[in-house]
Amino acid sequence: MSPRIVAHRGGSAIAPENTMAAFRKAIELDADGIELDVHLTADARLVVIHDDSLDRVANSPIRIGRSGVDELREFDVGSWFTSPDGADFSGERIPTLEEVLELAADAGLWVNVELKAGSRLYPGIERETVKQIDRFGLSEKVVVSSFDHYSLREVKRENPAVAVGVLHTSSLIDAHEYASIVGADALHPHAMVVDQGYVSGARGLGMAINVWTVNDAASAKMLAAAGVDSIITDDPALIRTALAAGGAHD
Ligand code: G3P
Ligand code: MG
Repeated sequence: MSPRIVAHRGGSAIAPENTMAAFRKAIELDADGIELDVHLTADARLVVIHDDSLDRVANSPIRIGRSGVDELREFDVGSWFTSPDGADFSGERIPTLEEVLELAADAGLWVNVELKAGSRLYPGIERETVKQIDRFGLSEKVVVSSFDHYSLREVKRENPAVAVGVLHTSSLIDAHEYASIVGADALHPHAMVVDQGYVSGARGLGMAINVWTVNDAASAKMLAAAGVDSIITDDPALIRTALAAGGAHD
């Protein structure tokens, strides 16, 4: 089966990352899923943004965890982006997780929610995330991933039906064994650390493999042939063409 094609941050080559415009564009381009990054605001709302400040996307030093959602949503997070086709994305606001999950539920999208930090930095982030996933009936269509693996355990405690994935960049020995200790359902490796042995190990434990961030045709084909479950990419159209319309995941 051809891997699921997942738009990284909504497809950050085609639209400003982690905006509603990007997620809508991913749907238009027929991506099977989206990946997005989540932080918790000072008033305990989940917002979709990669960095912990507005520096890069709105030229402001304001910190996400120290600000309220209304204050954060006053900033334009679309104008900084230079579109390859000259499209204007000015006026985009930081989405809440609720907004994106609603869109995903309507469109039948698979969603990778990445928690940028767990409860040690953002107390209660796992509970609030699972609450929103359940609210939109998405527990079967979501994987929650994080580089904070304690956070993944917390997600599992909140709702064991929500899949969790161990994010890692290092070339881990027996990554599948480690992920099993965490209680994970999936591995989310950087593309550089995946080879056939990695895939076989994960398969042996029934663990899914969702690889990031793959932006070239040759790597996509190699990973598809190795049997990974998802390819997370900034450019879903490029990867779709490279894989030439194999069958997609649910
Ligand atoms: O979830 C895969 C990937 O998004 C992890 O890295 O920094 O792009 O969030 P980053
Ligand atoms: Mg991410």
